[in-house]
Amino acid sequence: MAYDIRIAGTDLHFACEAGQNVLDAGLKAGIEMPYSCRKGVCGNCAGGVARGEVNSPPSEAKPAGQHLFCQCTPLGDLEIVPEAWHRFDPSARKTFTVKVFRNTLAAEDVSVLQLRLPAGQRAKFKAGQYLQVSLPDGSRRSYSMANPPHESDSLQLHIRHVPGGQFTQLVPQLKAGDTLQVELPFGNFELKEESTGPMLCVVGGTGFAPVKSLLDDLVKKGVKRPVTLIWGGRNSGGLYLLAAVERWKKLLPGFRFLPALEDAADAQAHDGFHGRVDDAVRTHCPQLAGHEVYCCGSPPMVSAVRKACVEERGLDPHHFFSDVFVPGPAAPPG
Ligand code: FES
Repeated sequence: MAYDIRIAGTDLHFACEAGQNVLDAGLKAGIEMPYSCRKGVCGNCAGGVARGEVNSPPSEAKPAGQHLFCQCTPLGDLEIVPEAWHRFDPSARKTFTVKVFRNTLAAEDVSVLQLRLPAGQRAKFKAGQYLQVSLPDGSRRSYSMANPPHESDSLQLHIRHVPGGQFTQLVPQLKAGDTLQVELPFGNFELKEESTGPMLCVVGGTGFAPVKSLLDDLVKKGVKRPVTLIWGGRNSGGLYLLAAVERWKKLLPGFRFLPALEDAADAQAHDGFHGRVDDAVRTHCPQLAGHEVYCCGSPPMVSAVRKACVEERGLDPHHFFSDVFVPGPAAPPG
């Protein structure tokens, strides 16, 4: 049985099967609302229900009076109030068999995987979006593209080796010529192109990947916005592809780089901040009104940075964009 889900204040509506979550039903119908983890962890998909009843599991990420659309299922017809929405073409998402052409151990526990699309084929995506790798057991893993969209005949992934990770422990053994099946694009962590204000990018570990795509895209498009990049990690062994950072220093006017490292000696050696990224924000960003913040990392890290930016530095909460990395199998495509 399908229920009718209407977006409040519009004539836009879509069908949602009993037991299907509202976000997946919207995506299937070509209506995208904000989301990231799709596992009830990040809170990005939170929105209101103006009319109707939902089954809405408890979650720490659920703001009072709202529901997580990636988790809640309708108990009847609904009128919903998402934070934002837009139409997209679900058929634009494509599956490719890609070949590994380079696999580099870029940091102590990070592989940079370069994949090539079949001859003559191109991947269409926006900077900041992600793909899903299909594993032989049918499960999937999500990784952001680290290359900019104009490099559309190849894909660059930054993969952290998660201890015991079903896929990531195999990644160091992947060699040139091996193939993987990937589907893309997913996600709506992307640059707000109409904006001109200063950007603060705050990343932890391989959260660097989608921001690398964003910043390479800015360079390609000749966009001139002041950008600060704060990159957090335990020590300098977690910083990699620093040649990209050097390139942005030359090509992006007003670009500022600040590593935030837990190791005091490494922080000093890299002219960085000793401590967590949210404390680096507090120390180095006295006010963030008029800024946009792009934040990628673990759920606690993103939540701490959001708090520092919005509650303590005056950032408009609608200008905080995040991509939350949750290890393990990805939610199936909507
Ligand atoms: S909590 Fe729904 S997308 Fe993360």
